[in-house]
Amino acid sequence: MGKQIPAMMGRDTVDEPADVGATDAAWRRWLPLLREAMLTEMGRAPVPSESHGEDHIDRVWSRVLALGEELGADLEVLAAATFLHDLGRHHVRDEDHGALSAELAVPILERLGFPAEKRAPTLFAIARHDLSFDDVDRTTLESRILFDADKLDTFGVVGVTRAIRSWYGRVGIDFILGQLDRRLALLSLPQSRRLAADDYAFARDFFVRLADQTGASVAGAYVEDREDRTA
Ligand SMILES: [Fe+2]
Ligand SMILES: [Fe+2]
Repeated sequence: MGKQIPAMMGRDTVDEPADVGATDAAWRRWLPLLREAMLTEMGRAPVPSESHGEDHIDRVWSRVLALGEELGADLEVLAAATFLHDLGRHHVRDEDHGALSAELAVPILERLGFPAEKRAPTLFAIARHDLSFDDVDRTTLESRILFDADKLDTFGVVGVTRAIRSWYGRVGIDFILGQLDRRLALLSLPQSRRLAADDYAFARDFFVRLADQTGASVAGAYVEDREDRTA
């Protein structure tokens, strides 16, 4: 039994797992099942978030798979963690939705017959993918890969589009720039930092130019409604 995640909205239900090592291609068979389960859960969620929809999951999975193969991570754990990591985000508009996602994933993994020994590392990666944890809290390779791949989706043309969709006109551009910097600073893996470099620079340059050209008209005071403040 590993140490427990600090008590906070269900986190005490997720134990820190032991290393699980690499596996063969067993992960492939889970993809259609995980996608179906994710879409079903999202379909009945109370506050669906467009920027955390199926397209976001597919982009994250593409990066997770590339990083996971390169680093020899457990792709079965990563597949389940990726497809289920934002379930909670469609229930709460809050950046610390990872614990709720993990709670919602428990019955899904059970129903799918996901390997029992891989559930704890999967739930761990899901619970710790959000911004309420620091890099030191992500103590497994799989949790680092999921976090980094998820945050890479906030940079580049896609990241700019998501940021505008969520924030433009509602928060100051300084806030958006701060969110970009925060996510870059939290990236854990050197591979992710290399992947992020160009796309981070693009997104930052875009919003700096936008601020220059639009001035105070859209750089209003930050609205404290905690809506869409997450990736
Ligand atoms: Fe998330
Ligand atoms: Fe995400």
